[in-house]
Amino acid sequence: MSHQKEERLRAFYRYDQNHPFASMYPLLAKQIVDDLGVTSGRCLDIGTGSGALLIELGKITSLELMGLDINPETMVLVRDNAKRHDLPSDRIEFLHGDVHALPLPDNDIRLVVSRGSIPFWDDHATAFAEIYRVLQPEGVAFVGGGFSRYQSKEEADRMRPAWVSKDNPEKRARWLHREFLEQALSQVPGAEWRVIEDGYGTWVEMRKPAQGRFVAEDTKGASHAVSEL
Ligand SMILES: C[S@@+](CC[C@H](N)C(=O)[O-])C[C@H]1O[C@@H](n2cnc3c(N)ncnc32)[C@H](O)[C@@H]1O
Repeated sequence: MSHQKEERLRAFYRYDQNHPFASMYPLLAKQIVDDLGVTSGRCLDIGTGSGALLIELGKITSLELMGLDINPETMVLVRDNAKRHDLPSDRIEFLHGDVHALPLPDNDIRLVVSRGSIPFWDDHATAFAEIYRVLQPEGVAFVGGGFSRYQSKEEADRMRPAWVSKDNPEKRARWLHREFLEQALSQVPGAEWRVIEDGYGTWVEMRKPAQGRFVAEDTKGASHAVSEL
């Protein structure tokens, strides 16, 4: 990696009060906890980057935190960020891995979160199937991109331009189409899901039913619900 690129990466992945989204991560973490009600068990953040969302979830829950990223360079930076935010090193674990082949066993994770990584994925059906595989029965995933509805619209809009990708924009933007997400999600048998477009972001909430229900529904094929909030 060039020195310049390394410096850029370091600046974006340093999570402190000067980070461009510093005021957003605590609000998104609170929104996730309020909406999904999960405060304990194993939590996986896919494409964790700076680890900011995971760190904020750690501050308000007793979740066992795990950050995964395809870029091994982020691992050191995330460790520094966790330290900066006084998160004990035994609260947070880091994994090098790819969403398309998660290095985790089946039925392992109570809460999967992922923010801002989805535009970079190559095969969303495979990625969603992997997320579903690692979810525990009654586990839930919140995956997508954007900001928190607990922010003001003005603040979210101010942040938005920094988030739009200039690199391969067509591929990066395809997940923003509801039909694209629905097509990928419909290939995950047994999963219950909904697509949320709330004006702040686009998110997929995916649930793995309890064991008994999952077996019953599996014979009938996928079940899903789609709603707009
Ligand atoms: C825009 S950053 C978002 C970082 C962080 N989640 C946040 O909200 O600030 C996207 C992250 O996704 C990671 N990523 C991209 N493709 C991935 C993949 N296939 N599997 C896992 N992580 C991936 C990148 O390395 C990068 O750290």
